[in-house]
Amino acid sequence: MPPLPSSARGAAITGWGRALPDTVVTNADLEARMDTSDEWIRERTGIAERRIGGSTASLSIESGRRALACAGVDPASIDALILSTTTPDRTVPATSATVQHGLGLRCGAFDVNAACSGFVYGLAVANGLIAIGAERVLLIGTDTLSRIVDWTDRNTAILFADGSGAAVVEAVGGRGSLLGWDIDADGSAEDLLFCEVGGHLHMDGKEVFRRAVRIMVDSAEKSLAASGTSVDDIAMVVPHQANIRIISAACERLGIPMSKTALALAETGNTSSASIPLAWFAAADDGRLVPGDLVLLVGFGAGMTAASAVVRWTGAGRP
Ligand code: COA
Repeated sequence: MPPLPSSARGAAITGWGRALPDTVVTNADLEARMDTSDEWIRERTGIAERRIGGSTASLSIESGRRALACAGVDPASIDALILSTTTPDRTVPATSATVQHGLGLRCGAFDVNAACSGFVYGLAVANGLIAIGAERVLLIGTDTLSRIVDWTDRNTAILFADGSGAAVVEAVGGRGSLLGWDIDADGSAEDLLFCEVGGHLHMDGKEVFRRAVRIMVDSAEKSLAASGTSVDDIAMVVPHQANIRIISAACERLGIPMSKTALALAETGNTSSASIPLAWFAAADDGRLVPGDLVLLVGFGAGMTAASAVVRWTGAGRP
């Protein structure tokens, strides 16, 4: 994407929240159900356990409520709700409608489905709405992949799980915190990872792996170029939490040390739309980010989509 126009009305994240279901499924639990092992899963993916349960709406309401409280804003002041999800509770209406009502919002609400790149797609859309006049957007990324996983398929069941992360994106004076962004898709690769309506996830893991590294690096480089920054300026990378080997291969190619990554993968597995906000906001809650830090978000997913953004961290609560 080209550099942001200097006249664009800027936005910043002023509150965030996370939600995970209570039920923990460890690798040992999976070992008891299918031909796999804790050692294999840890070594090949970096995942030790994952959370499952709840609905996309219930997890979204939980993380959204926390983000609103963190920002200290009245739900009635939100101008739009964007829910990034690949696993809506119903085909119609959009799950965002249920979440809008559950949170007591009085605004437009719509779902975005760009698979695991969805939260970063949503961030670009939220900034776009603010550029054309919205004051406050609630952006939520939620998936309940446990509902579309075949729990007898060791190829997918070891990877995917449930969770939610949310951010309040508010208009600010000046350029705002989104410095550069990129969204991409290659529909010709749709057969590599798909789920028919009412069906289960099917995946060509090897080919997804191979392409994932390439498209993450490509997208990240586009966002860095658009923002006029380099990898040396980046304080933290928040990659899509799919597989630790994909993350480390992409970081190596980008020239970014693993010590700069935000990781939640070992405890969450791959939560798709929730993956980036869960890792990002856990790092923020742990005090790993200070105001002014540059954060590189980079995701990839079915589609095959990719998305990235360079964001200046603005710190806790309202500015
Ligand atoms: N447990 C134990 N053994 C397993 C296994 C499992 N869950 N899955 C596969 N194996 C076995 C295979 O049968 C194979 O055995 P063999 O050597 O005797 O033939 C061996 O382990 C290697 O299998 P392979 O498929 O080559 O493993 P891999 O290193 O490619 O890892 C994935 C498989 C799925 C973990 C990996 O390809 C991956 O993460 N891909 C990307 C998926 C992804 O990120 N999807 C989400 C996109 S948003």
